[in-house]
Amino acid sequence: MAEQSAALSPLLKQATPVLAARGEGVYIFDEDDRRYLDFTAGIGVTSTGHCHPRVVDAAQRQVATLVHGQYTTVMHRPLLQLTERLGSVLPQGVDRLFYVNSGSEAVEAALRLARQATGRQNAIVFQGGFHGRTMAAASLTTSGTKIRAGIGPLMPGVVVSPFPYAYRLGMSEEEATEFALRELDYQLATVSYPQDTAAIFIEPVLGEGGYVPAPAAFLRGLRERADKHDILLVVDEVQTGFGRTGDFWGHESAGIRPDIVITAKGLASGFPLSAIAASQSLMEKAWPGSQGGTYGGNAVSCAAALATLDVIEDEGLVANAAQMGERLQQGLAGVAADHPGIGDVRGRGLMVGNEFTAPDGSPDAETATRAHKAAAEKGLLLLTCGPHGNVVRMIPPLIVTADQIDEAVNLWSQTMKEVAA
Ligand SMILES: Cc1ncc(COP(=O)(O)O)c(C=O)c1O
Repeated sequence: MAEQSAALSPLLKQATPVLAARGEGVYIFDEDDRRYLDFTAGIGVTSTGHCHPRVVDAAQRQVATLVHGQYTTVMHRPLLQLTERLGSVLPQGVDRLFYVNSGSEAVEAALRLARQATGRQNAIVFQGGFHGRTMAAASLTTSGTKIRAGIGPLMPGVVVSPFPYAYRLGMSEEEATEFALRELDYQLATVSYPQDTAAIFIEPVLGEGGYVPAPAAFLRGLRERADKHDILLVVDEVQTGFGRTGDFWGHESAGIRPDIVITAKGLASGFPLSAIAASQSLMEKAWPGSQGGTYGGNAVSCAAALATLDVIEDEGLVANAAQMGERLQQGLAGVAADHPGIGDVRGRGLMVGNEFTAPDGSPDAETATRAHKAAAEKGLLLLTCGPHGNVVRMIPPLIVTADQIDEAVNLWSQTMKEVAA
């Protein structure tokens, strides 16, 4: 059981009662050496599992060599190597990189770039999207009012359009896509004049907003509109990138080329590192001095990111995420078939959500919370998400095996029986 330090902010809410002593692969061990199956992966960060030996080795060697080589003062090899290496996984031509430390910072950087490059102010976002907690990122965020409440005035120039959330809308995926694209056109006709619109920000799978994949036709529709009006398409791949969805990038299967890619989380297996990528010509349109920062591109984080890329490649983790994600969704759909309170099981790759719905169709956060808590007691660590907190999400590391997926589904099944009793 976790101790709560009296000196910590009382506002911090801990999702599980675990005091983690060490991590190994898919498992976290507490101080009594109790083993937990970690299907949270540090909110989708520990892509190669906890303390992957190759990531640990790369980081340890780098710590002993150079920890901080501030990259606008001096240059260092890990950053140069990582930049070159990322070029091979980024969309063709979208390969000029600017490094910062967190997802929110990278979102801010993407917005600055988009505004300066286009000379336009507005950003269009989709309802339920999460882009971070810093002031501009929070202004782009609508995954729950708690991120925005009481801190206003927020940044002006943000227009919120509906996301094709088929289950919530009670529509098929095609209907929801058509609806959301029609509404986007309506926003461009009524609220955000295209020539005032710098960028469209989209998460390929809504994260905090409830683990809802954006249909490929929707992403293609965004690309068409962006092309038509010279608006930049920014894909926020903070959570969906680096193999998480069973493709290297979450937007990949839609066959679109974004203008700006935002990456963080899985990029360095737990070391703080984030980046934006754009073409040379787009980056050149930003103003001198508009990019920088003390800690961005930390040498140890870059070394860890390089090792992460090696592991993803050598262990075939993108394909593993696709296969294991399929197995997880199938298993969870089986559990949901016995529990009508789980109204929808959905996701892409190893980003899978179970949405809890009351018999009258309203969101059932209470049962989701009980299930989440009961699962932790059984040794399965999960998270909740969604604007109402009624989605239990599962995000295991990409190294997860079939046996571990089956173990989790089995624990989830036991959990649901207990919760339903
Ligand atoms: C899609 C997305 N964008 C941005 C962020 C913000 O990242 P950070 O918490 O590192 O600031 C998150 C974090 O969950 C995210 O999932």
